[in-house]
Amino acid sequence: MTELYKKHLITTQDWEKEGLDEILAVAKDMKKHRYEKPYTEILKDKTFLMFFYNPSVRTRQSFEGAATELGGHAQFLEPKSMRLKEKGKAGETVEDAAKVMSRYAVGLGIRILEDAIDEYGKGEELLREYAKYSSIPIVSMAHDKYHPCQGLADLMGLQEHIGEVKGKKITMMWGYSSLVRSWSSVQEDILLLPRYGMDFTLAYPEGFDLDPEVIAQAKKNAEATGTKFEITHNRIEAVKGAQVVYARQWMSPKRYNIGKEEDKKLALKYQDWRYTKELDSLTDNAYYIHPMPIDRGNEVDDEVASGSRSIVYDIAENRLHVQKAIMALTMTKGWK
Ligand code: CP
Repeated sequence: MTELYKKHLITTQDWEKEGLDEILAVAKDMKKHRYEKPYTEILKDKTFLMFFYNPSVRTRQSFEGAATELGGHAQFLEPKSMRLKEKGKAGETVEDAAKVMSRYAVGLGIRILEDAIDEYGKGEELLREYAKYSSIPIVSMAHDKYHPCQGLADLMGLQEHIGEVKGKKITMMWGYSSLVRSWSSVQEDILLLPRYGMDFTLAYPEGFDLDPEVIAQAKKNAEATGTKFEITHNRIEAVKGAQVVYARQWMSPKRYNIGKEEDKKLALKYQDWRYTKELDSLTDNAYYIHPMPIDRGNEVDDEVASGSRSIVYDIAENRLHVQKAIMALTMTKGWK
């Protein structure tokens, strides 16, 4: 068994597959035996810190619920309630904050993306700095580059519905929205799902490229498992024969140079990029996935998002179970 105690989780790419498999196996068992011992006592008398620079529905509720169900407590923190150094203002360093927080809690989750940063990569930099100084595990609760808990919940949902995902085709399609979304959730799946052998087709309008380093790594991941990784600007061809479709907006690479309002204007040109009933009919009865919140009527037709092959709520629930497994395996020792 791989040693996960005190291991940071900033992206699943940092972990061996064996460790990810262990999280998924424990998460599935926790789902089955949700309120049973030993699971209800794993975090007894222990605190998990949740540091949110941005709002959240699922992540806050599922982490808080996860700590409660494991018998512990999750403490909610925001920058305004802390005394950290900010641009041009005196305050506490990350080093001091990380070392002090490590004395109070067994784990620290951090969310930082979208408007909380002024340059892509700054969120990742902050998480890595906390990881450098902290003696407790740092977990990304979504940052500008990755969203590992979402990736694991997506994979768990796909395994529950499809079984073995190897050889199945997933199409990730950009979908129009006036929301300007970070790359975190999509980039996590782009790396993770090819590692499990899924054929990956990425479809988006010209100008909405993702991080080239992540794409290069995804191609290597696909090569290592002998699967395909393809990029296209033709959404109709892209969805044909897909067994899973993930349709969601993401920002353009220009977002932090031109600003959010200008990025919205770039997206406006592609309002026809919606995952419609017609596109759905070209797939191989594809499951629909999305990390939520969904912009219904823009990213996807209501009928698809609420259709019988939409598994978005199962995946949202799985956030709770995978996070319980992450907390149990990285923040405590010896309960197994
Ligand atoms: N999927 C997800 O992270 O949702 P929230 O932004 O609501 O936490």
